[in-house]
Amino acid sequence: METFNKLESEVRSYIRSFPAVFESAKGSKLYDENGNEYIDFFAGAGTLNYGHNNPIVSKALIEYLKQDGVVHGLDIATTAKREFMEKFNDTILKPRHMEYKFQFCGPTGTDAVETALKLARMVKGRSNIIAFTNAFHGMTMGSMSATANEFYREEAFTNRSDVTFVPFDGYFDQEVDTASILKQLLEDKSSGLDLPAAIILETIQAEGGINVASKEWLQEIENLCHEYDILLIVDDIQVGNGRTGSFFSFEEAGINPDIITLSKSIGGGLPLSLVLMKPELDQWEPGQHSGTFRGNNLAFIAASRLLSYWEDDKLSREICKKEQLLRDRLKDISQEYDTMETYIRGRGLIYGLQIPDANFCSDVSAEAFSQGLVIELSGAESDVIKFLPPLVIEEEILEEGLDIVEEAIYTVYNRRESINQILNYDQVYQNESINQELDQKDTINQILDQKDSINHVLNQKESINQIMNSK
Ligand SMILES: Cc1ncc(COP(=O)(O)O)c(C=O)c1O
Repeated sequence: METFNKLESEVRSYIRSFPAVFESAKGSKLYDENGNEYIDFFAGAGTLNYGHNNPIVSKALIEYLKQDGVVHGLDIATTAKREFMEKFNDTILKPRHMEYKFQFCGPTGTDAVETALKLARMVKGRSNIIAFTNAFHGMTMGSMSATANEFYREEAFTNRSDVTFVPFDGYFDQEVDTASILKQLLEDKSSGLDLPAAIILETIQAEGGINVASKEWLQEIENLCHEYDILLIVDDIQVGNGRTGSFFSFEEAGINPDIITLSKSIGGGLPLSLVLMKPELDQWEPGQHSGTFRGNNLAFIAASRLLSYWEDDKLSREICKKEQLLRDRLKDISQEYDTMETYIRGRGLIYGLQIPDANFCSDVSAEAFSQGLVIELSGAESDVIKFLPPLVIEEEILEEGLDIVEEAIYTVYNRRESINQILNYDQVYQNESINQELDQKDTINQILDQKDSINHVLNQKESINQIMNSK
């Protein structure tokens, strides 16, 4: 760790939660330099849905490199890119009756969000964008301006104009229909809300605390988009790629976004990000939006191979089964600690266990790590333990990881109880000492009072003597 502490910027973060030097990884496990094994419930923040070093990918990459396949090529035509687009079209889009054009952006998720926002603004000729409370869309200027958390929105960092934040589904409580509030704001010519080019949303806010939008809410938002001529952008970077059980997270809601952003797991751990746009929105001039690393050919090779997981519904069925297991275990834990007012939220293999005490959750994550589990937190207050295992995790390993979480919660809970008992004992002890001191003080005061009376009597005796003497 010394090299990292000395040479790497203070900005490093996950290394602080997981202080080990990792050397290798396979499936749903990581191994450090000292030979310790860790179960991965973090999956590279949703990048390793198909596990670390998926053998299908490793084999294909080695073969491609051996044949001197093109690795870098800006946006020239390559065999690897063609294969990916055809496979994606045939395996994902056509069976869902979806027609979209591909735009490859810079390598990471935030590049796809930047592209989507720029495209929507260009097509609609409007600057405003609607984003939601607790949204997370990335760390570059445009994406960050649509990211809600104040930690990232330092005034000096981001352009705060041209994005209006409105409440996400369930922001107040489930009784308040935030889609109707948005409708009212759009309807009212005096609401101050500028008609936006697009509404950007995550169907499940992963970084924002595992907030799950209901399908009815998503449908209402889509209706608003149609009614007011607004484009709907679904940012499926973290919860797409099968995370919720279907390839796209919005399939259950039956909505039809104008623009979809994809990244993270699409490249099986290699950087790749893309925008899917309805064909009529493809109004770019050639080269109007560019970048050196558009489309990573190694990632195309990985992505094409991984799409074979979606040729039938086997993976979806497995996710559904593992979701049941995960949810049941979380319910049991939640019931066990009912005094802590825990909440469970999630869908597919992304779940959050909210324990409204940020330090409790970070203690659980640290304790779990010491027992061989990598698990992160989410939410503005870091009070949600985030369960994000690879989709291909074996059931026994999922159970093993959940045992570690349960054990970690038990340890942290009991440690806290013991500390509280000691503090209470200290308080009682302190109170007793204080009472004893007060008793002593009373006795002294009584003695002093008695002294006063004796002095008084003595003074009186003195006066009498004086009178007697003068006579
Ligand atoms: C929903 C969503 N959008 C965008 C991003 C940004 O992706 P990247 O970190 O690859 O730039 C993230 C990253 O966590 C995300 O969860």
